Amino acid sequence: MEETVVIIVGAGPAGLATSACLNRLSIPNIVLEREDCYASLWKKRSYDRLKLHLPKQFCHLPYMDFPPNAPTYVPRKGFIYYLDNYVSQFGITPRYLRSVESAIYDLDAEKWQIVVKNMATTDNVIETEVYTSRFLVVASGENSQGTIPDIDGLDSYGGEYIHSNQYENGRKFRGKDVLVVGCGNSGMEIAYDLWNWGANTSIVVRNPVHVLTKEMVKMAMIMLQYLPCKAVDKITVAISKLKYWKLSKYGIQRPKKGPFHLKETSGRSPVIDVGTISKIKSEEIKVLPGMKCIRDKDIVFTNGETVQFDAIIFATGYKSAVRNWLKGSYETFDEEGMLRKSFPYHWKGRNGIYNVGFSRRGLQGFSSDAQNIANDIYSNTTVALGFNN
Ligand SMILES: Cc1cc2nc3c(=O)[nH]c(=O)nc-3n(C[C@H](O)[C@H](O)[C@H](O)COP(=O)(O)OP(=O)(O)OC[C@H]3O[C@@H](n4cnc5c(N)ncnc54)[C@H](O)[C@@H]3O)c2cc1C
Ligand SMILES: *[C@@H]1O[C@H](CO)[C@@H](O)[C@H](O)[C@H]1NC(C)=O
Repeated sequence: MEETVVIIVGAGPAGLATSACLNRLSIPNIVLEREDCYASLWKKRSYDRLKLHLPKQFCHLPYMDFPPNAPTYVPRKGFIYYLDNYVSQFGITPRYLRSVESAIYDLDAEKWQIVVKNMATTDNVIETEVYTSRFLVVASGENSQGTIPDIDGLDSYGGEYIHSNQYENGRKFRGKDVLVVGCGNSGMEIAYDLWNWGANTSIVVRNPVHVLTKEMVKMAMIMLQYLPCKAVDKITVAISKLKYWKLSKYGIQRPKKGPFHLKETSGRSPVIDVGTISKIKSEEIKVLPGMKCIRDKDIVFTNGETVQFDAIIFATGYKSAVRNWLKGSYETFDEEGMLRKSFPYHWKGRNGIYNVGFSRRGLQGFSSDAQNIANDIYSNTTVALGFNN
């Protein structure tokens, strides 16, 4: 049993940012991380050619900019390097191989009780640890678990299938017939990567998506600082239509809601075209509709077509697994493990619980969340401990 002031669950960028802000205010905190490293999503669960989708000025964590010589769109490796510096600069020391199994608020003691599976033991015996803290920061991520849809026949599929979080690059798919399922940013980029590696690539596009270029997104981010979302959406869609004319001819529909309104309300990001669209237009990457069922290597699509594939990559998204371990607090997180409250009142709940990284704004939202949380805890602890007599 160990007691501290703040427990932070998760050592992703959100948890690191919060720990840094707390350390600056000398508030004791412990970061618990189930993997053996920080930023595990960036180190272990993302593909090689990934770059930050937004220019660097929108992606930094509190109190540390990217170096001036960093490229505008920081690649995955560069972001990890930035986080390495961040962790040493702010003296953040996560405890690794600690999987939080449950967190319960003890009303009488007015403390959180956190039960943790410790896998970092020398003799490989899993130990249970219990921590107590006045405050709990949920930083376990919106993308905690990869999800694969339940498709008839998938368990008997004759080829190999993986979730996009296991995809590194297309080397081993050269010369193979590969199907990417899902047309979000991961799916579109992985399809392009596979094509570059010489795989015969097809992509399932079922939902409508906005397709934009990096430059359009950058422009929109700047406009959003001055104009209402509605206006920015209108302008952005008009520009996108000029560049990506008649995408519906290739099976890609545009949603009715605007790209940034959609991002805020449903968390669905616009797709940033990395080169996939021109390959779709030239039919080097083929677009297919939804899947109906799988029979050995044959995949049957909703349009009646049957095609054989050697491999399937499911870029079908993620879910937050908060509700698996956070007991109670259902007024904070819904059944999907996503926040009920929306920006900008989202980061604080009842009984000393906070969350960071759940505002559907990617890295951009972390900085203010982390600072708000640290300041709020600071004002609460100074009162409670009588420091400000
Ligand atoms: C492929 C991909 C590309 C992306 N690109 C961008 C981008 O360019 N720009 C952008 O802003 N956002 C991007 N995102 C969104 C991205 O998820 C966030 O920006 C960022 O990584 C989220 O940080 P986080 O700290 O909230 O969560 P994570 O990075 O997911 O970190 C959460 C940590 O909590 C740990 N954890 C979870 N549950 C437990 C538990 N029960 N016990 C202990 N530890 C636990 C996890 O192991 C993980 O290390 C991308 C996401 C993906 C999947
Ligand atoms: C590529 O895959 C498509 C299925 O989408 C298939 O019809 C075609 O025959 C494949 N081409 C080659 C060269 O294997």
